[in-house]
Amino acid sequence: MSRNRQAQGPRPKAQGEHRHTVRWERFSLGLGPWALGLTRSPRLAAVVFFAAALAGCRQDMHDAPRYDPLEKSTVLPRGSSAQPLVAGTVPRGMLREDTALYEGKSGSAPVDTFPFAITRADLDRGQERFNIYCSPCHGRTGEGNGMVVQRGYRQAASYHIERLRLMPVGYFYDVMSNGFGAMPDYRAQITPEDRWRIVAYVRALQLSHNATAADVPAAELERLKSGAPAPAPAAGPHK
Ligand code: HEC
Repeated sequence: MSRNRQAQGPRPKAQGEHRHTVRWERFSLGLGPWALGLTRSPRLAAVVFFAAALAGCRQDMHDAPRYDPLEKSTVLPRGSSAQPLVAGTVPRGMLREDTALYEGKSGSAPVDTFPFAITRADLDRGQERFNIYCSPCHGRTGEGNGMVVQRGYRQAASYHIERLRLMPVGYFYDVMSNGFGAMPDYRAQITPEDRWRIVAYVRALQLSHNATAADVPAAELERLKSGAPAPAPAAGPHK
């Protein structure tokens, strides 16, 4: 697309220009005397002349007179073939000004609240993405004993140690976005929104390892005490 756009302007390239000139000369020599006879109708003469001139200079598309991206140029004062953006230009859809959402930071500190409200559907999606992208190393419960680790990869700290339980949510987002020590980053594979859903699921895993009876809803606690079987899980995408 950018190639097409660049091809529109009259931007001669050294090699193309040369070829152009040679063909032009050869052609205008043949045309000259004939075109002179048409001087009574200058408009017609011009049309005939340019139509013929265009037909005469054949240029292959691969040799189009255009600049490659960031190519040097003597045309513009800065020596570049690209013009600077007009002041006040706003990128559409890629501005990413919301640093809490896209970087997980407020200033240089990791944020400690989620940038959007987490619903059950977000948590389910987070679980699914976690199982795909993180569990091979961190294990399905986040203890760090995933299959890749069992085959020799460096073992990460368990998510359930106190240090990581106290880390703000922005820290987990940052590790996924930028990597951490031996761990590669997952910026390219996981969208920002999904990274936050994974963080929510990591928090759920942490809670599951450190909850007390006080965290269980009263009705649920009664059922647990009575020893009654758990009700069948609600239908939905969650498996
Ligand atoms: C290829 C294996 C691998 C995968 C996949 C992986 N990690 Fe890691 N992760 C590691 C290793 C190894 C470390 C420890 C790195 C080190 O200490 O050099 C680590 C460290 C971390 C830490 C920091 C722990 C600390 O001690 O501060 C967090 C948080 C984390 N990973 C989260 C994730 C999440 C979330 C995912 C999924 C998006 C993920 N990791 C995917 C291997 C992996």
